[in-house]
Amino acid sequence: MSKITETIEAVARMILREKDYLTELDAKIGDGDHGINMARGFEAVLDALDELDHPENPRLVLHTVGTAILESVGGAAGPLYGTAFLSAAKVCAEDERLSVSSVDRLLGAAIAGIEKRGHAQRGDKTMLDVLIPVHECFTSPYADGRTLYECLADANQAANEGVEYTKTIAARKGRASYLGERSIGYEDPGAVSSMLMFRAAYQFLNR
Ligand SMILES: Nc1ncnc2c1ncn2[C@@H]1O[C@H](COP(=O)(O)OP(=O)(O)O)[C@@H](O)[C@H]1O
Ligand SMILES: [Mg+2]
Repeated sequence: MSKITETIEAVARMILREKDYLTELDAKIGDGDHGINMARGFEAVLDALDELDHPENPRLVLHTVGTAILESVGGAAGPLYGTAFLSAAKVCAEDERLSVSSVDRLLGAAIAGIEKRGHAQRGDKTMLDVLIPVHECFTSPYADGRTLYECLADANQAANEGVEYTKTIAARKGRASYLGERSIGYEDPGAVSSMLMFRAAYQFLNR
């Protein structure tokens, strides 16, 4: 099994564990289904990875994850996360290894996929407010001369700060945008799920 497969399994366990928390957050500024959606998606991911013939092939793994999420989750975030994994698969080699430059490339493609499908940008109070600053920790010039583990630690911090930032701004995309200024003061649920996914990956790789 590749490290990428094991990392995704750690991410799935985190999402299943935090299902109720994500749903509570979405109940405050959305429709209270984000945890349910994410848990359904990652249960499908674990089932699909179980049945995979080549779990050592990260390109195939990412493609399988994206497809499992797209096929199992409705709402806004499911298709966006599904697209993110499929977009990352497209730029992933069959023998890809985790490194600063591979995370830079895969996360860059994932974000571009989310932006293309969701037409959101940084500052709209979405998952992108976590994913973009996380990605920056792996890009040049910031990442130059830093090890993978240094970048992961910085990105973990950036993910937490991204969630805090979403509390200070009004939602401009998705259901929370119906609340306008009244969404200020609350974390964006998708930003929190992105942060938790990244935290799970960080903790798993740093163990
Ligand atoms: N256009 C978009 N681009 C990026 N992320 C988005 C967009 N719309 C919504 N989101 C993310 O999706 C999250 C909500 O997901 P979820 O509750 O599962 O779906 P729904 O909003 O359909 O109920 C939001 O917190 C936000 O982070
Ligand atoms: Mg919702």
